[in-house]
Amino acid sequence: MTYSHDALVVGAGLSGLRAAIELAKGHDVAILTKVHPLRSHSVAAQGGINASIGEDDSWESHAFDTVKGADYLADQDVVELLAKGAPGAVIENEQWGTAFSRTDDGRIAQRPFGGAAFPRTCYAADRTGHNLLHTTFEQAMRLGIKIYEEWFVTSIVRKDNRVCGLTAFDIATGQIQPFLAKAVILATGGFGRVYGRSTNAIINTGDGCALALSAGVGLKDMEFVQFHPTTLFGSSILITEGARGEGGYLLNKSGERFMEGYAPEKMELAPRDIVARGIQKEINEGRGFEGSYVHLDLTHLGKEKILERLPGIREISIHFAGIDPIEEPIPVQPGQHYSMGGIDCDKNGETSLPGLFAVGETSCMSVHGANRLGGNSLLETLVFGPIVGRAVAGYLKKAEEPCLQTAEDEAFAVRERIQAMVMRETGDSVAIIRNEMKGTMDRLVGVFREPKDLDEALIVLRNLRQRFIGVALGDCDERFNYTLIRALELENMLELAEAIAMGALLREESRGAHWRLDYPERDDKRFLKHTVVTREDGELKVSYKDVNLGMFEVKERTY
Ligand code: FUM
Repeated sequence: MTYSHDALVVGAGLSGLRAAIELAKGHDVAILTKVHPLRSHSVAAQGGINASIGEDDSWESHAFDTVKGADYLADQDVVELLAKGAPGAVIENEQWGTAFSRTDDGRIAQRPFGGAAFPRTCYAADRTGHNLLHTTFEQAMRLGIKIYEEWFVTSIVRKDNRVCGLTAFDIATGQIQPFLAKAVILATGGFGRVYGRSTNAIINTGDGCALALSAGVGLKDMEFVQFHPTTLFGSSILITEGARGEGGYLLNKSGERFMEGYAPEKMELAPRDIVARGIQKEINEGRGFEGSYVHLDLTHLGKEKILERLPGIREISIHFAGIDPIEEPIPVQPGQHYSMGGIDCDKNGETSLPGLFAVGETSCMSVHGANRLGGNSLLETLVFGPIVGRAVAGYLKKAEEPCLQTAEDEAFAVRERIQAMVMRETGDSVAIIRNEMKGTMDRLVGVFREPKDLDEALIVLRNLRQRFIGVALGDCDERFNYTLIRALELENMLELAEAIAMGALLREESRGAHWRLDYPERDDKRFLKHTVVTREDGELKVSYKDVNLGMFEVKERTY
């Protein structure tokens, strides 16, 4: 069977849903997603969404904080769109029904977040993503957007250097089918699961980035991996920045608020890269607890405030660490949280392949540069979803009809490849290769980086990619073959992990979330540039391209 739509969106998190909602005005758009939309990782976003709706705040101030937070690697024309579009995006979702927390006089409440000059982060207690995702999903339902749930996309179909659809695997039946479309939007979220210690859902395996790379499109700034300062020790569950926004302290084992030594002005509310490094340094130098974590102390906030503003954090701490933050501090350590890098595209989501677009965390427009500010990620999905939707609508006006034969040939080739993988009887196991990849990334490509570690990481990762060629699944069921899904995801992640390590090795400077112990300074002369990784003849290659500056002068970054 062949499926046909004007445009397809891959991924049903906030950015995919929001782009589809825009396109549904006048076009036949469908979404493919490997999980039910309400299980997309947007649901896990806790602390909030930034918008300059406060009385003395302005979009210019939001834009400046974003560019400075990004250590000047953000493209400033894209940041302008983000900051200008923020109030409208928040109000739109509020009018759709999102239950934002309120001030006593009924306005949308805002809390301080890292690196921001104003309390700019609108929130729904500590379940902001959950609220926004449900509201946005309702709009997609209202518009009757077709959603192919539990389908895994296996390739982008191209003809004459343009997109003409994709192939996808129906998880329930194991059937691989061609889908025709003039345009495809990749909105598959991040690739945090290349690491072991990550706040990301198990589904965050960078499938969109890998699809783009295979289709000949570059990945940008992959070495900029965000480590959230506060993840729960033991399980790496996110402990929202909102906890520090509400007044939480970070303490080392001597009871010192050590952030004074790293960011004397902003303290716990410096940008994430700075706070994560501060915590990691305390741990590395023996001032943490059990050599592994520091304390996030909320006890002084009082029961009432914790129950009202941080109820989810309390539940998580009780259930996953046996700690009630009303009574005791929470043990936290940095963990992978977000991917600043992603598919190289412009501010309309357009990639170098006509008909292929990207949006949200899977894209790199680059609005976050070398370090994203908390609260700008939910915002990115809701501002750029409609922008990319409109760009695709414009593209559809001139796009040629997709070619059925090409899509069917591609589906045939994918079936053969997957069949060979499923039938292989001996070889390495998916779980062993995946665990080696994650352990390598945690150990060698973390908060602090050194060339000898990065070299070692590349050797291990390249070896794992070789071993993957002979992987054996030990499960040849057609229906709900999750071993196969995990294998396809692993194949995607191995290439992305290598791209991260390559970018990190070649970037001989420290900027934002990328910190090199051998090059502890920012080097604007050599590296005020975006890294672009492409695949050529099966090998990854690195090149560089300019950053769009203009609005704000590039300066030193102090907090
Ligand atoms: O800490 C948090 O609540 C995360 C927010 C974000 O990543 O934007």
